[in-house]
Amino acid sequence: MLIAQMTDIHIGFAPSEEVEELNFSRYRVTLDRLRGAPNPPDMLVLSGDLTEYGDAESFDKTARLAAECPFPVWPMVGNHDNREGVLRAFPQVRAADDGFLHYVLEHEGLRIVLLDTFEPGRHGGAFCEARQAWLAARLDEKPETPAVIFMHHPPVVSGIDWMDPGPGDGWIKRFGAAVEGRRQIVAIHCGHLHRMVATSFRGIPLSVTPSVAPLVSLDLRPVDPGRPDGRDLITTEPPSYALHRWDGATLVTHYEAVTDWQVIAHYTERLQPMIAGMMAERN
Ligand SMILES: [Fe+2]
Ligand SMILES: [Fe+2]
Repeated sequence: MLIAQMTDIHIGFAPSEEVEELNFSRYRVTLDRLRGAPNPPDMLVLSGDLTEYGDAESFDKTARLAAECPFPVWPMVGNHDNREGVLRAFPQVRAADDGFLHYVLEHEGLRIVLLDTFEPGRHGGAFCEARQAWLAARLDEKPETPAVIFMHHPPVVSGIDWMDPGPGDGWIKRFGAAVEGRRQIVAIHCGHLHRMVATSFRGIPLSVTPSVAPLVSLDLRPVDPGRPDGRDLITTEPPSYALHRWDGATLVTHYEAVTDWQVIAHYTERLQPMIAGMMAERN
């Protein structure tokens, strides 16, 4: 099973027509790549920040293009979105009874848990006691079934200072309490940082999928919020997506940057001896 993940699309960010077109065209080429891939995914997770300002028109634009996919699309809410907008544009999802936009899918023996770390008016993440209880209850339901967690906000300090949570933020402690010691969690996949990052959280592998929208510059120097230093903030590094491959036992994540690269070798008879030699070594 293949789960594609696209994150941080930011449709509707329009300081100028060029920038608006830039975000939309990055979204379109990434979706086109996914649709035309040699292995189309079984589903696509959109892990938040679908829009820049959470307006209905931008949600509609995002949903219309997603609806052209021949596979199901599962949206999540990011800090730039709002629950009402996601629910209206994507009728395939419903809020839980507690009002949060979190839900669980199950395919081929893998539980796919999509969380809601949104709090209106806040840039950073949120995870209240109600969400902690919901997640703990979902994990209690099937402790023997492997689970992957998707959440918009990474609950880790990455070193990209202006984007990071505080190490002592309460929401991270509550999320940590819900997942601590849960051996069925095979991985946590996030968005929000607009960069590829790999680490672990409470012993669980945790990765951040890079954005579809422009990326955040790789600069790990501390930021003084009172003194702009002219550093780079946003770059036009290419849009990317993740492809999570589940074989029934292991979840392996691939990333691909979508840009105008070229293929410089094909599997032809000339390269067949090399390929056959490599594969002959396997048990
Ligand atoms: Fe974002
Ligand atoms: Fe975000």
